[in-house]
Amino acid sequence: MKAPLSEFLMEDWLESHRFSAKYNAGESGHRPQSLSGMLKGLQPDFDFELTDALTRVMLCDAPNMGLDELRHEVARLHPHATADNVLITTGTSEALLLLLRQLRPRKVAVITPAFQLLTEIPKSLGADIVPLPLEWSADGKPQAPIGVWTEVLALKKPDVLIFNHPHNPSGLVFTNEERSALLDVCDRIGCTVIGDEHYRFLASSAEEPEMGPTVWKTGSNRFVTGSFIKCAGTAGLRIGWCVGDPNTLSAMQSEKNYLTHTVNPLSQQLALWFLQSFSRQKSFFKPLYEEWSENRAALRGWLNGNTKWTGAVPQGGLVSCVFPKTHSENGTSHFAILRERGVFLLPLSTFSQTEFADVERTSGFRVGLGLPPKEFREMLTVMVRY
Ligand SMILES: Cc1ncc(COP(=O)(O)O)c(C=O)c1O
Repeated sequence: MKAPLSEFLMEDWLESHRFSAKYNAGESGHRPQSLSGMLKGLQPDFDFELTDALTRVMLCDAPNMGLDELRHEVARLHPHATADNVLITTGTSEALLLLLRQLRPRKVAVITPAFQLLTEIPKSLGADIVPLPLEWSADGKPQAPIGVWTEVLALKKPDVLIFNHPHNPSGLVFTNEERSALLDVCDRIGCTVIGDEHYRFLASSAEEPEMGPTVWKTGSNRFVTGSFIKCAGTAGLRIGWCVGDPNTLSAMQSEKNYLTHTVNPLSQQLALWFLQSFSRQKSFFKPLYEEWSENRAALRGWLNGNTKWTGAVPQGGLVSCVFPKTHSENGTSHFAILRERGVFLLPLSTFSQTEFADVERTSGFRVGLGLPPKEFREMLTVMVRY
């Protein structure tokens, strides 16, 4: 009998606090954009009126695999892929669920702590998890012990590696050498790689936004699941995709027909414009990228200048981890003290289901960098005041 899915710890915490916290830095996405803000932001990259065009979108079922033009734009982000290699899904979550159900792995290697879905879905399908645990230095900097991980992979021979990069919750981005070391050993042992590339749009520190690397390689046993929705503050669009071989995608689509069937045409239209804009002047995304850079600089300065917290600035994506240096007073938890002052950070203990066994580190928090810069700086000030 397969294990049922266990409670999604993180989501329960987010739901309980996201609407009431003054400073909601528990989230893993950019602050939400309004529909009109998105349309206004995208407009300079188009020579027709987007708002008008959106009102003309037919509210019918979209093609089963997704809008052709959107599949084409997603393919362009993956070297040598074509639209046939792309399935549009309802968020990355659906892509991962459908893909893992097709692959039916026995052993799945995952960098831990992990986004809970990455361990829970494989477990529910009867797979064992092969944890690849992150390490942290005394001053709260995450480290990937790649040498140890490649040995674990070679020894345990998982049939799937889910490679979440940039990584949630550590914010780590791997060097080319580190990525190659992991991918090479997977090729050697015949392990399928799923690149969970949700944060690929925020994966470099260059002045201008540019995409991070992808694990995609045509003709290999590699898959990519991804989206832009967190990076762009448009999580409500629920757009995701899977890039893979057409046979697997078609089997996934067949299951999808029982689930969400097709993806909302309005969301797909907006997603298409987002990707087209990203390939032009990035008019909508640039200001968001600048906010991300500003918040990273603020967090860096704050970490350098305070005696109460350690941690790291995310190298990619919108989250990283921070750790209180001292025990909280009078038995009141750090979480409760922060929450009383309006700050919501996600306790790392909510990653405990994902083979996160480093007891010392579970007292830390995931911090999201999606708040407007002024609010983010205010929140950091509040965090050192007690
Ligand atoms: C690493 C990772 N994978 C997958 C997902 C699921 O994403 P979506 O909201 O597109 O379903 C998330 C969401 O936070 C994530 O952080």
